[in-house]
Amino acid sequence: MNGRRPRVLVNCAVSLDGRLAYAGGARARLSGPEDLIRVMRIRAASDGVVVGVGTVLADDPSLRVHWELLGETGGRAPYRIVLDSRGRTPEGARVLDGSAPTLLATAADCPRRFPEGIERYRGGTGRVDLEGLLGDLADRGFRQILVEGGAEVLSSFFRAGLVDRATVYIAPWLIGGHTAPPLLGGPECPDAAATIPAGPVTAEPLGAGLLLTFSPPGRAGAPL
Ligand SMILES: NC(=O)c1ccc[n+]([C@@H]2O[C@H](COP(=O)([O-])OP(=O)(O)OC[C@H]3O[C@@H](n4cnc5c(N)ncnc54)[C@H](OP(=O)(O)O)[C@@H]3O)[C@@H](O)[C@H]2O)c1
Repeated sequence: MNGRRPRVLVNCAVSLDGRLAYAGGARARLSGPEDLIRVMRIRAASDGVVVGVGTVLADDPSLRVHWELLGETGGRAPYRIVLDSRGRTPEGARVLDGSAPTLLATAADCPRRFPEGIERYRGGTGRVDLEGLLGDLADRGFRQILVEGGAEVLSSFFRAGLVDRATVYIAPWLIGGHTAPPLLGGPECPDAAATIPAGPVTAEPLGAGLLLTFSPPGRAGAPL
């Protein structure tokens, strides 16, 4: 990457014990009403909203701005961006419904064809090359993207040092168990040396939960 990339915001919601979803990855609606409005404001201010294909398969999200929550009838729609190395996004997925600009990011050799109108980034061996994708988005004029998950994608962005600011809403309940995904997936962390520094964390009450904000140090490349 030549250092040009959009600003990368991360946002997600977790239970008090740090789970992104229910057992086996079943979708959990963790945001309260105040948090939903906050997330819609960030989506509306971003050029793209990013998720992994795991989230598409588990949740089938629309990734659209719900303008009515912002008291508006409409506005500029951010791109829906799916990291899908092997082209596993189902044909009937909401992100392929053509209702908002959409970009599918695949590995370089992925043969899958997507419906007309769906834009494409190809790069990376095995998995989508995140830095290549961010450089491509910068070339398209993207200034800010919002990465919403899930656990694998969040891990990749944090471990690559590509997160400029993260907000995590903590819902006031616990999930527990062994199969509910935690905030971060990715490689195992064997010791303190392999942890990801978060930098100073601020916390503020939001509805019945808590909003954490932090900007991890040591990010790679400079945002535009
Ligand atoms: N609470 C929240 O805020 C929130 C938000 C979003 C999702 N979720 C939850 O998160 C869960 C899904 O998380 P997940 O970890 O299974 O899936 P995910 O992070 O959404 O997607 C992971 C997949 O993305 C693909 N990918 C492509 N390039 C990648 C890269 N460079 N780095 C990482 N992944 C890449 C990989 O599949 P390929 O190799 O096949 O491409 C990978 O398996 C669901 O339970 C969902 O409900 C919660």
